[in-house]
Amino acid sequence: MPSMHTLKETDYTILEEIVRRSVSQSRFKHSLLTLKVAVRLAQRFSVDCLKAKIAAVWHDYAREWSGEQILATVLQSNRCQPQKCELENPMLLHGAAAALELEKYIPYIDNEILLAIRWHTIGSVKMGRLGYIIYTADFIEESRKHITRHEKARLEELESPEAMVLEILDDTIPYLSVKRKTIAESTLILHHQLRQGLMAGYEK
Ligand SMILES: [Fe+2]
Ligand SMILES: [Fe+2]
Repeated sequence: MPSMHTLKETDYTILEEIVRRSVSQSRFKHSLLTLKVAVRLAQRFSVDCLKAKIAAVWHDYAREWSGEQILATVLQSNRCQPQKCELENPMLLHGAAAALELEKYIPYIDNEILLAIRWHTIGSVKMGRLGYIIYTADFIEESRKHITRHEKARLEELESPEAMVLEILDDTIPYLSVKRKTIAESTLILHHQLRQGLMAGYEK
């Protein structure tokens, strides 16, 4: 069995350069600002910083692709089973497409990184702690205009990445319902599980 690729700082440098050349300036800036928060959270919660840097810098690698390009990349591979709502709105698969592309550059890269990137869009119980960190960082990085600075700081002060994602989902799920957008099954399952898990924690 092939061994897992041992990540080095140079892997990050190379990937950052590929992203810089592949996306718009504003997207690249968003990626680096997401990285800044992700590193802060990784340090605080003892998650591997290099993995957080790689997942953060790469998460929106395919965000500016067309829906057709994203769908073609995902369907060409047998590594990803898209959900119904993702097939209806292929832009939701930009995380999946990015993860598949990353694997082409670094075969046998940690699955943890691939899952964090794959699920940063709609969330899933498969995303793991690194995934919660990327999801939160993507949501609260400093250039985001959808919530106030105060609200970002409050989210980041919560006790765990799980609590941060739960809080974000508590806000976004009703918003999506009002807008009559389909809410992915994986989002609802994640929401339910985080709620159960955190409630169980409070009862101890
Ligand atoms: Fe994204
Ligand atoms: Fe993003």
